[in-house]
Amino acid sequence: MVSVTKKSEYTGDYPEKTLYLPGPTEVREDVIDAMAEPMFGHRMDRMTDLYTTIVEDTKEFLDTDQEVIVLTASGTEFWEATTMNLVDEKMLVPTSGAFSERQANVAERLGKTVDRVEYDWGQAVKPEDIRDALEADDYDAVGMVMNETSTGVRNPVEEVGDLLGDYPDTYFIVDAISCLGGDFVDIEGSNIDAIFTSTQKAFAMPPGLAVCTVSDAAYERELEKDSASWYGGFQRCLDYYDRKGQTHSTPAIPIMLAYRKQMKHMLEEGHKARDQRHREMAEYTREWARDHFGLFPEEGYESQTVTCVENTQGIDVAATVEEVSQQYDFVFSSGYGDLSEESFRIGHMGEHTVESIKELTDAIEDVADL
Ligand SMILES: Cc1ncc(COP(=O)(O)O)c(C=O)c1O
Repeated sequence: MVSVTKKSEYTGDYPEKTLYLPGPTEVREDVIDAMAEPMFGHRMDRMTDLYTTIVEDTKEFLDTDQEVIVLTASGTEFWEATTMNLVDEKMLVPTSGAFSERQANVAERLGKTVDRVEYDWGQAVKPEDIRDALEADDYDAVGMVMNETSTGVRNPVEEVGDLLGDYPDTYFIVDAISCLGGDFVDIEGSNIDAIFTSTQKAFAMPPGLAVCTVSDAAYERELEKDSASWYGGFQRCLDYYDRKGQTHSTPAIPIMLAYRKQMKHMLEEGHKARDQRHREMAEYTREWARDHFGLFPEEGYESQTVTCVENTQGIDVAATVEEVSQQYDFVFSSGYGDLSEESFRIGHMGEHTVESIKELTDAIEDVADL
């Protein structure tokens, strides 16, 4: 392989930027500080205290009785693990953007047969299409992205979950990476077998941990299979928790310390208030976008954590992103992939408020001369 990448020395000397990205997002100072503790061993009692605290607090925050795994990995790990753990042969994946397409790709890489229900980018998944597909064929699982980060679409997982109640042999796997913690979902009520996120998104923690809930049925299924993931095996992770209150291999302890601190803040706010705050940020951002531009997602399916603005004014998106960063030290995102100039994305998740989002939109108005 010929490498074209040259070393670019990290100097530690960079201006502080406020992140309005679709993750990583802003992390509270006391959460950053929580990472700076002397190291301890992952088989010490102290680790059991830390890990059982973050797991049980997460169940409480998500308002679920399902089991919870917190694993050292990015969220991508659970695309692989859920597929390996729950799919023998066939998986149904509705695709409507870059991340749902990648979920399908991952399953194909793992040797599964994937049938896609394809939508144009910006469109939402329609439950009746999922029902039609399930009537036409048998699937081990439906894998679905709840919040399509590339297009700002919030897919109707609750409605798809409802209809999956009629197909008890099909597991429901939900990638909620860019919305869980900022967009409440009733996990059991939506017949979800596994829903996962990464810590750098609406949980507003540093990156490095992935979180997944597991239904009893999903856990049981793995008991009969030797094709399950080793690292992300539900049984391996949960049995270790059950026996020792720890993880099966050495975790990123400093990030778990940050997790503990931030989850206490999340519990203090509560999932209802957190959901409401995200709803208000999303409403404000959408209103601003409609006033000045347009919205990329299909109407009625706009995300609660990431607004994808359609660049109807033909502004130079890359230059605006750069200039807002230079002048205001605010970082937001251009459109994803081919949409880079056609749209731009504002992450309103985690610790942000309507006021902090307004500071960004004011800065964009100033720089783009709106
Ligand atoms: C919907 C969605 N799925 C998966 C991923 C991958 O997550 P990670 O980078 O934590 O592996 C992302 C990242 O942005 C995402 O937005």
